[in-house]
Amino acid sequence: MPIFIVKIASLRYDHGMKILAIETSCDDTGISILQEKKGQFKVLSNIVSSQQIHQNYGGVFPMMAKREHQFNLLPAFKKALRESKLLISKPKFLISNKKRGVIEKILEKEQELLPQLIEFLENYEKPKLDILAVTHGPGLEPCLWVGVNFAKSLSFIWDLPIIPVNHIEAHILVNFLPKIDESSKLKVKSSKLFPAICLVVSGGHTQLILMKKIGTYKIIGETRDDAAGECFDKAAKILGLGYPGGPIISQIAARQKKSGIQLPRPMIHSEDYDFSFSGLKTAVLYATREQKHGLTQPYIAKMCTAVQDAIIDVLLKKTFNAAKYYNVKTIILGGGVSANQELRKQFQLKAKKENLGVMIPEKNLSTDNGLMIAIASYFHRKNTTPWQKIKANANLRVSK
Ligand code: KG4
Ligand code: ZN
Repeated sequence: MPIFIVKIASLRYDHGMKILAIETSCDDTGISILQEKKGQFKVLSNIVSSQQIHQNYGGVFPMMAKREHQFNLLPAFKKALRESKLLISKPKFLISNKKRGVIEKILEKEQELLPQLIEFLENYEKPKLDILAVTHGPGLEPCLWVGVNFAKSLSFIWDLPIIPVNHIEAHILVNFLPKIDESSKLKVKSSKLFPAICLVVSGGHTQLILMKKIGTYKIIGETRDDAAGECFDKAAKILGLGYPGGPIISQIAARQKKSGIQLPRPMIHSEDYDFSFSGLKTAVLYATREQKHGLTQPYIAKMCTAVQDAIIDVLLKKTFNAAKYYNVKTIILGGGVSANQELRKQFQLKAKKENLGVMIPEKNLSTDNGLMIAIASYFHRKNTTPWQKIKANANLRVSK
């Protein structure tokens, strides 16, 4: 794969900047602190606190996830500051009633988070941060609001600018972060890279996006029903496996090369770039019901391979069809499903065959995390927005 050299406009923050990024769009509470100096990045901290509670239900309940975010956020925030050497305690100093009143209003619907934040503000110094970044959509609305209102409170109390970040775009832009712990500069050579086709595959989304440059996107296809990750999760639930289903199915499938079970590849031959995965989940359900001996280990293993194969076949075919039609130079993957080992392998092989560049995030950056929000905010660092104007938007889209 070619080395991409990206030219970034000169910075407003000559001394460098520290970005605090907050991600709460689904069931992972992510906090990251990214330091940038003259185009060089250092990840000071990237904390992901995954909610275990959903394992019992095989899916995410928004109000339950919202509650968990409220409990996870402050500990993750403190941990991130501590790791970044930015957590400095002070003798308890009560915040004024006026300021307290504003924070109480902002966190009106986050009653579990409110006392934790007040306690923090009264006992710790303002950390040396320059920018706040927060996911404002798309995602589960009650969850998004936790992160957004947390960012708004910090912005108000510490007088820091906020950059609202689109979660889908962040899944794409995390690919542009230089390898962690490498002190190489962020370089993007647009002429060698774009146009690109991005496949964002997560628990809530499956989208094919034509990317002309950083910040310019067009959604050319998306799922009409379930997302690819959702299909992994629902199939895992049917098979009595845990949640999230993707990592479990892929682990089992890695030990079961041949499936022997035929599953449909929905919409694989349709001429558009849309997807549909709900029929695949139904096929798994019906096949499983017909098992006379119930859920035996050999059956589960074969079905895991069959589901994974079917999903990858469809994603691969549609993505490379789009790449050909739009005559792109690069394929960019992102979202939790892009952590799938088999999918990564197949996309790399096919891209090589087709002489296309391919960008895939490191596995821990494929799934939701705060670092992707930090790097996305860096690209949009001019878009600072007053905290009063920031809103969560569950249905936010990347297309203009
Ligand atoms: O991007 P993400 O972390 O959260 C959303 O934005 O939804 O994606 C989560 C999804 C879940 O559906 C999970 O099962 C799936 O990504 N996933 C995987 C793998 N790791 C996570 N799917 C397939 N293989 C994996 N290794
Ligand atoms: Zn995501």
